[in-house]
Amino acid sequence: EAVPVLAIDGPSASGKGTVAARVARALGWHYLDSGSLYRLTALAGLRAGLALDDEPALAAIAAALPASFEDGRVWLDGTDVTDEIRSEACSAGASRVAALPAVRAALLDRQRDYRAAPGLVAEGRDMGSVVFPDAPLKVFLTATAEARASRRHKQLMEKGMAANMESLLDDLRERDARDAARSVAPLRRLPDAVLLDTTDMDVEQAVSFVLERAPVAS
Ligand code: C5P
Repeated sequence: EAVPVLAIDGPSASGKGTVAARVARALGWHYLDSGSLYRLTALAGLRAGLALDDEPALAAIAAALPASFEDGRVWLDGTDVTDEIRSEACSAGASRVAALPAVRAALLDRQRDYRAAPGLVAEGRDMGSVVFPDAPLKVFLTATAEARASRRHKQLMEKGMAANMESLLDDLRERDARDAARSVAPLRRLPDAVLLDTTDMDVEQAVSFVLERAPVAS
């Protein structure tokens, strides 16, 4: 019997990370934040002085990423990079390295290794389409660009960081377009994915929606 996977895909700043982590905790399942692997690849590439379109070199880095995850912290080569991988440089870099087919291929087995009993909640852009196509539950979690930009705006303000709604909205639309237009693993809603539009929902409601549909481990 295959270990069940709950695949949650969706655009940037949709809140799918928060929802996926809470669902994993509620079920007592493992959790994969696949975007962090692309962010770590970009950071390791930048540290090695690579151009972020050097496909073979970046694929080699991705295949041997010296990364570990502990208690919600992310480590690269012995340093805590939890905040650094969320920086603008790493966000933009991740989106560039994620467009390289050899990098995606190099990260495939690593992502599949997270599938372990009693179950896995995996979050990203291609969890349901490429990495875990046999997942018994696939959710496409989204919200309007305006709702996503205003949530990010609120987060930044709470951290005391400067934020401009217009430029946040422009950035999101640009990233959406790039994620949807790339030739490998473009972001799109699969016909077998349940649509979860969180525009008018809070986190609790979104978590309940997913938990109500969660496959039960057998
Ligand atoms: O989800 P997050 O914003 O952390 O993802 C960072 C980048 O990695 C995004 O630009 C996205 O295009 C890419 N990504 C991907 N496939 C995934 C997860 C993330 O291409 N499964």
